[in-house]
Amino acid sequence: MPAIEVRPGIYWIGVNDRTTDLFEGVWPITEAGVSYNCYLVKGDKTALIDMAAGHHAAAFVDQLRDIIDPAELDYVIINHMEPDHTGAAGLLAGLAPRAEFLLSAKAEPLMSAYYGLTGRTRVVGDGETVSLGGLALQFHMVPFVHWPETMVTYVPEHRVLFSCDAFGGYGALPGRVFDDQCVDMAFYTREALRYYVNIVARFSGPVLRAIDKLKGLDIDVVAPSHGLVWREHPERIVELYTRWAQLATQPADPGVTLIYGSMYGNTERMMNAVAEGVSHTSLPLEIFDAARTHASYILPALWMHSGVIVGAPTYEVSLFPPVAEMLGYAVHKRIMNRKAAYFGSYGWSGGALRELKEIAEPLKWDWFDALEFNGAPTRETLRQGEALGERFAQALLASRE
Ligand code: FEO
Repeated sequence: MPAIEVRPGIYWIGVNDRTTDLFEGVWPITEAGVSYNCYLVKGDKTALIDMAAGHHAAAFVDQLRDIIDPAELDYVIINHMEPDHTGAAGLLAGLAPRAEFLLSAKAEPLMSAYYGLTGRTRVVGDGETVSLGGLALQFHMVPFVHWPETMVTYVPEHRVLFSCDAFGGYGALPGRVFDDQCVDMAFYTREALRYYVNIVARFSGPVLRAIDKLKGLDIDVVAPSHGLVWREHPERIVELYTRWAQLATQPADPGVTLIYGSMYGNTERMMNAVAEGVSHTSLPLEIFDAARTHASYILPALWMHSGVIVGAPTYEVSLFPPVAEMLGYAVHKRIMNRKAAYFGSYGWSGGALRELKEIAEPLKWDWFDALEFNGAPTRETLRQGEALGERFAQALLASRE
C-alpha cells in the first residue's frame, strides 16, 4: 500500500501479513491477518517508528522506499523489541548507515541478543524528548505492555501517540487504516479483543498503569503498531482496553461460556440439555467444542463472561485432553474468579472432575455443581442437566443483583 498521511509530516507505512498462520507461533491469524504498522515522522530530521516482522522485511523496505531513501533516516525508534516489530532491524541497519536506534535501557541488551546490533543504539529515558526540528518525539516507558522494555512515543505538535502493542488488534488493513474509514467495526473490535486476551491480558495491571500514566497527554490520534489507527474516536479503543484490563480483577459481565468435548456423543447430548437450561434465561451463552476450536477464539468469551460450564468425558482416568489443554490456556492467561460447573460422561472409571479441579485450582473458580453420569445419559439425567444449566444461569443473574 502507498504511504498514508496521518498528520502533516507523519505517515503510516505499514505492512499487512496475510500469510502467517500462527501469530507468535500460537495464535491463528490465517483468516484475519495482522498489520505491522510503522510510521515515518519528518521534521528537519527523519525518524522511523517501529518496523515489521523479519519475513516481511522486504515488503517493509519497499514501503519505506516509497517515501524516503532509508539511507536518509536519522533515527529508528524501537518502542518494543518483540520480533514482529524488529525483525527487519538487521536489514534496515545496513540500508540506513547513519540512523541511530533509540530505545529503552531494557531494550538495548535485547537488540544485541536478537540482532547483534551494538554501537548503533542510544538509550532514551522516561519523558525524554528528542527534537527532529519542527517536530519532537517524546518517550514514555510503559513496562510490560507488552514486554518489560516497552515504551510509547508521542508527538506533542500533532498529539499523536505511537502506542505499539497497546491499543492494537489483529486484522489486516484493507487500504483503509483509520477508524473513521472502517466499514466493519464489529470485525476489528472482535479481533482487538481476541488480540488483547491472547497477547496482552496477562499484563492487564501494567496496561491500567500505562493508561493512567498517559492520561496527562492530550491525544488526538492513537496509532498502534497493529490494527486500526484511531483518529476520529481515539477514546473508543482506550475505553475498550481499559474495560478489558479491568476484567482481570473486577467481576466479568453476566454470561456463560460453555466449553465441551465429546468422544462418542454422550457428553455432547448432555451439553445440549445444559445449554437448553441456560437458554431458559436471558443470559448470553457461547458454546465451543474444545477439540475443534482453537483456544484463541475461546479465551475472549472466557474473559468477558462471569460463568463457565465445562463438559468433558473422562479419558483414561483423567480429563478429556482437548478440554484440559484449553483450560491450560485459561490458567496461563489467569482468567480468575469465575463461577463454574461441570458435566460429563464416564465409562469404566471416573477422573475427569478431579483433574479439572486440579487444573483450575490456581484460578480460584467457584464450583457451583457437577453432574457426572455413567455411559449414555438417560432421560432423567438429561432433565438433571437442563435443570443444572438453568440453576447455574439463575445463580449468575442473582449474583449481578
Ligand atoms: Fe506486537 Fe509484543 O509485539
